[in-house]
Amino acid sequence: MGGTAPHPHRNRRGGTAVTDADQAREQIREDAVEAALDKLDLDTKARLLAGQDMWTLPEIPEIGLKSLVMSDGPIGVRGVRWTADDPSIALPSPTALAAAWDPELARRAGRLLAQEARRKGVHVLLAPTVNLHRSPLGGRHFECYSEDPYLTGAVGSGYVNGVQDGGVGTTVKHFVGNDAETERFTVDSVIAPRPLRELYLAPFEAIVEGARPWGIMTAYNRVNGTTMTEHQYLVNEVLRAEWGFDGCNVSDWMAARSTTGDILGGLDVAMPGPQTVYGPALAEAVRAGEVPESAVDAAVRNVLRLAARVGALEGVPAVVEELPAAIDGQALARELAARGFVLVRNENGTLPLDGTSGGTVALSGAAARDARILGGGSATVFPERLVSPLDGLSAALPEGALTFTVGADPSDELTPADKGFELRAICRDASGTVVGEGSLPTGQVQWIGDDLPAGATYANMASIEVTGTFLPRESGEHAFGTRGLGAFALAVDGERRWEGVQEMGNEADPFEAFFGAPSERTRLTLTEGVPVEVSLTYQVPDTSGLPMRAVMFSLLHLGPRRDADELIAEAVEAARAADTAVVVVATTERVESEGYDRTDLVLPGRQDDLVRAVAAVNPNTVVVVNAGSPVELPWREDVAAVLLAWFPGQEGGAALADVLLGDKEPGGRLPTTWPARFADAPVTEVVPTEGRLEYTEGLFIGYRGYEAQSVEPAFPFGHGLGYTDWSYESLEVTPDTARVRLTNTGTRPGREVVQIYLAPTADSVERPASWLAAFAGVEAGPGESVETEIALPARAFEIWDEEARGWQRIGGTYEVRASHSHGDTRLSATLDLA
Ligand code: BGC
Repeated sequence: MGGTAPHPHRNRRGGTAVTDADQAREQIREDAVEAALDKLDLDTKARLLAGQDMWTLPEIPEIGLKSLVMSDGPIGVRGVRWTADDPSIALPSPTALAAAWDPELARRAGRLLAQEARRKGVHVLLAPTVNLHRSPLGGRHFECYSEDPYLTGAVGSGYVNGVQDGGVGTTVKHFVGNDAETERFTVDSVIAPRPLRELYLAPFEAIVEGARPWGIMTAYNRVNGTTMTEHQYLVNEVLRAEWGFDGCNVSDWMAARSTTGDILGGLDVAMPGPQTVYGPALAEAVRAGEVPESAVDAAVRNVLRLAARVGALEGVPAVVEELPAAIDGQALARELAARGFVLVRNENGTLPLDGTSGGTVALSGAAARDARILGGGSATVFPERLVSPLDGLSAALPEGALTFTVGADPSDELTPADKGFELRAICRDASGTVVGEGSLPTGQVQWIGDDLPAGATYANMASIEVTGTFLPRESGEHAFGTRGLGAFALAVDGERRWEGVQEMGNEADPFEAFFGAPSERTRLTLTEGVPVEVSLTYQVPDTSGLPMRAVMFSLLHLGPRRDADELIAEAVEAARAADTAVVVVATTERVESEGYDRTDLVLPGRQDDLVRAVAAVNPNTVVVVNAGSPVELPWREDVAAVLLAWFPGQEGGAALADVLLGDKEPGGRLPTTWPARFADAPVTEVVPTEGRLEYTEGLFIGYRGYEAQSVEPAFPFGHGLGYTDWSYESLEVTPDTARVRLTNTGTRPGREVVQIYLAPTADSVERPASWLAAFAGVEAGPGESVETEIALPARAFEIWDEEARGWQRIGGTYEVRASHSHGDTRLSATLDLA
């Protein structure tokens, strides 16, 4: 059997030269992979390519192969258990990481995640997500980096290099065209060759080149008519043959739908299991002559190579044998959050606040107390602690300097029972005998595969009771409800309040129990501080015929809704009396999450009214936006400062205090244009027509689109203010480099992201008016000058030529711009390119 050696032309791994010793070890791994493959029979090979459960592949002791364990990704490592019992460090959202414009910082994040993965026995992190911000409506916008392919590729390469520095694999996802969520399992993303190559494939290509990832995840959707898990052209020809990807191709969860289509389309692993289109069905297809065994061998080789790389093939040297230095996750989460905050407006130096001179702060907004620190869906992890803005500012400000009022609460939907609840789960058999008990940090039961409480099995578990006490934080009418499919009985304060069955809706999304709408079941009046008993009993449905077994349902709760005008009036009174008003506005999980797209960019509830009312009485109003993706800020010119905090991770509130009080400067620059109004966005439609989503805007997404239509955004791509000023002094360009000299003219040390854009002065081909070619971060103290030489990648001058199936360099005259943002060019030079 002839082995495919890893791509011969590659001579670097993650920007580091590969040494002779590295190459020798790579050869040892390749030889071991071939030797192991030779020992496997067809059935075992087919079995290895199918998930054995939600997160793992089977072990094969005869060849010393351990069970490969995978886990989401991307802002933390959840591990194989979907529960707060097994906490993880939660870093800021990928939008925030991209906003730092710093691949080295992304690399440090990656190293921390590798450390987390190792702690949890995970070999492969299901990340990063490098689909593009095509439309701000995309439900997973928060989970992707940017509207720009170059920035996405640079940050993604740093991230993958970091994770792999720690000896843990990644699956760069979702390959490709999964830029929105509506009908995500089936939608056909119709993308012309140039945007496909120049925009959507570009980050994947850059990461394959710059970080040599050990894995990729193929998406649910189709591209140009073919399902991505079966896409022979994009997977076998482009990803593997053209780019030299030698890693493992894992399907998105439940994306693999055809045994022969998938294996011939280059899909190595079908996840999750145990019921997949691989395993026995694959062996059968080979025996029936539908699939050559060599295709199975190629896939097994890729799995074994991955196993060898991460050290899961016994006796074979892993890529990383000496781990990088340990990282303090809490400290890094705090640092990253501040580095990602984007200060988009700061009138009269409102920020930083002077925390020591006795200034008072009136904080308002429900999210200031119950912060959204991460985005919903598979990216969810459960941090051990969570610092809200209220916690962070309370700790940082002198006693008595801070007040808090809710002001506006945008979440008018029930969410899993959390604050004030103490719950556990009791599993009983059909006769009512207890067979197992589990702890429950919230009202959400999410047991996937065999991750059940000790003693409970799918065979013996007839019902599950979520039971415990609830201590109300406020007096008034409390609502209780359920999420999930099946039969329930709900009791509160010792009284049966509801009994009924929730059937599957029309969506037929297998994750409906997870993302589905909450249902209110009862309301009753409770008193602050007076505990009540709660109990939700769930009849466990028969899931034996489903591809994966799981129990998913939730006890939901919503506290008393106070009169919205009264809440605003309270916040206004507090703001009137304070030196500074800080309003935290946010999206909710119902409007921004995996599983669905947004329909507009409006802040939910009365939050806009709250900001306007506070700003009317306090000229020093600072608005903190706690959202993973753009929202409309119609009052932005009426407030003193606006800080975009994204989903800031578990230490977000501490980082917010650092930045508001000036211990650190906000480091972020927008990775995506923020429109003034939703209608201004270049792409406002993400709902497919008859299953097809046409990318009719072609090359013109993000700033490329705004510029083509001459639309002024609220805040341009690349925009963001620090706490110092920079003067750009000189720019010298060659076809390969831009050399920029700049001086920190302010009074504080700072970091500036120097952005290099190319703008052809005349064009013979259709291209955007300008685009990001490269960038570099520089640091300098007050009065200091720095010089940076920024390499201009050859690709920046190229377009894709579909007929020639190759890249074509476009000569001519270019204006090369050294800019603070896409909308703020500081210097420019002319370059004549042959
Ligand atoms: C998501 C993937 C994720 C997988 C496993 C899918 O629904 O699209 O990004 O890795 O689930 O949780």
